[in-house]
Amino acid sequence: MSTSLPPPANRKLYEDMAAGLATQGYAIVADALPAGLPDTLLSHVKSLNPAAFRPAGIGRARNHQLDRSVRGDSIHWLDNNDDAVRRYLAWTENLRLELNRRLFLGLFDYECHYAYYPPGAFYKRHVDAFKGDANRVVTTALYLNPQWTPQDGGELLLYPADGDAPIARIPPEYGTMVLFLSEDFPHEVATAHQPRYSISGWFRINNTVGNTIDPPR
Ligand code: OGA
Ligand code: MN
Repeated sequence: MSTSLPPPANRKLYEDMAAGLATQGYAIVADALPAGLPDTLLSHVKSLNPAAFRPAGIGRARNHQLDRSVRGDSIHWLDNNDDAVRRYLAWTENLRLELNRRLFLGLFDYECHYAYYPPGAFYKRHVDAFKGDANRVVTTALYLNPQWTPQDGGELLLYPADGDAPIARIPPEYGTMVLFLSEDFPHEVATAHQPRYSISGWFRINNTVGNTIDPPR
């Protein structure tokens, strides 16, 4: 083997994530990122001009529509032009390779945005990808909320494919990352009672049609 293994602490992290995805379809990992990175991201997201955020819509491209009764967050898509974000994208690139190596998922790239939920905002139950429409394969949510308390609400609720009882209820606590198979888990964000910051992301497979890697979002 010519490729070097990641340091042991990371190896355990990747193993936990891969095992969770393989056995139950999701993983919840505290302190997922390298030390200091959540702080960098939180300062960055808070430094952005509010005008850099736009109300999140539902559906892609021509089906895109705004509906505040479905979701009340505002989002800012991330790319390598954002200096503070480069380290996060380097980390998710490594995660992509590790998941492919362990689970043969053929993940091709990663797209992500900051999400800001003002107090009172929620995101009703939905799925991030539809069967047969394979594109988004693994969803990630990284939470950037220091001192989140149970009264602050804003939990991520994961549901089974066909049932109304949540199988997991995850508070958006600082540095926690949740990963789940995008097609398999309807989920919702409960009403947040404090400002709620996160990064939503999706590992995708290549759906190239002609020269278009993916339909516009
Ligand atoms: C999403 C989403 C979950 C969360 O952005 O599609 O479901 O906990 N986010 O922020
Ligand atoms: Mn979602």
